[in-house]
Amino acid sequence: MKKINYSQVDFDTMVIHASQKPDPSTGALSTPIFQTSTFVFDNVEQGAARFAKEEAGYVYSRGGNPTTAQLEEKMAVIEGGQACVAAASGMGAIGSTLVSLLKSGDHIICGDTIYGGTSVLMHQGLPEMGIEVSFVDTTDLDKVRAAIKSTTKIIYFETPTNPTMKVTDIKGCADIAHEHNLLLVVDNTFAPPPIQYPLKLGADICIHSVTKYINGHGDVIGGVVVGPQDIIDKIRGLGITKVCGTPPSPFNSWLVLRGLKTLGMRVRTHCENALELANFLENHEYVAKVFYPGLASHPQHKICKNQMNGLFGGMLSFELKEGINGKSAFEAGKILLNNLAICSIAVSLGDADTLIEHPASMTHASVDTEERISVGITDGLIRVSVGLENAKDIIEDLKQGFKEL
Ligand SMILES: Cc1ncc(COP(=O)(O)O)c(C=O)c1O
Repeated sequence: MKKINYSQVDFDTMVIHASQKPDPSTGALSTPIFQTSTFVFDNVEQGAARFAKEEAGYVYSRGGNPTTAQLEEKMAVIEGGQACVAAASGMGAIGSTLVSLLKSGDHIICGDTIYGGTSVLMHQGLPEMGIEVSFVDTTDLDKVRAAIKSTTKIIYFETPTNPTMKVTDIKGCADIAHEHNLLLVVDNTFAPPPIQYPLKLGADICIHSVTKYINGHGDVIGGVVVGPQDIIDKIRGLGITKVCGTPPSPFNSWLVLRGLKTLGMRVRTHCENALELANFLENHEYVAKVFYPGLASHPQHKICKNQMNGLFGGMLSFELKEGINGKSAFEAGKILLNNLAICSIAVSLGDADTLIEHPASMTHASVDTEERISVGITDGLIRVSVGLENAKDIIEDLKQGFKEL
């Protein structure tokens, strides 16, 4: 068979075909699940050659597995990177990357609004290993520049951020990073291709929690790291295989490969539904503010238009007004969520199902109230991962929920 030139085909064609090869022993189109921990060598000499990396081939599934290898190859093509390594979770991907690339005495600049698990790693895990972390509002490039020290090795952020949807200029940060010989690492979980391509905008490493849009069906926990071959080899050899020991199971890799075939269609529908919902919410009498990169009212809408390829993502948040029918915004948020039928009260994101959460009483309940409010997570803030149901039904669900306030 001839080879497909991925740069010449549409995204939807590429995600189906990239890395896919019929199984050589059976011709099976669907990638087999190589549910094995170890691989048998023909003889001792072959085993020795594999260990010495003089011969290509598998040894043990913590270091590499054929099903997972297909996922890695596909994700490298999708993000436009040289190589990829998969992990058992998004946190496995992030942790393995940072422990592989940083050592005691190094400094990392981290976006000031990041996922809770990453926040624990940055606030506790890394400092306890002697790695200094500065938290910076990366939407302000002057602040990023000002935070660089002689020991800085990495700039790390998420864009858009959770749950306030702040957006950082990836290309602007990449230019600063490279002027100072630093690596730029972007967590692209919230805006996967075909929305946003960090590596094409100059980032060195792109990370996903594939738990979210990449798998898309809410039935896997997983992660990937995409970047240059030498860096990915280091993260695989040290972080994933040895220090953290966090490869994915072959079955989870297979589920993600299956989910990926519809990535383009799913993502476009998530984005269309989110924009419709954002427009509805922006005009609702009980809503004080909507945070969605696709709205003209978003402070970085102009950057989003280019950086997010006009798609803007499936995540949004909105703030309820204080005093709706005499209720506090905190109370109103709880009542609204308890009166929904289609939107499920749950954390996580990127699933076919619409997921809704109230950060003040759930994900951020343990955060000091003043600190929570200072980063924009107010009592009446609601976060929605807009699903693939018909947008009209999602909007109707919220409309009837608002009637209970
Ligand atoms: C932006 C972001 N990065 C990383 C993670 C961690 O991923 P996982 O739950 O797969 O470990 C999450 C989880 O919600 C996330 O939202």
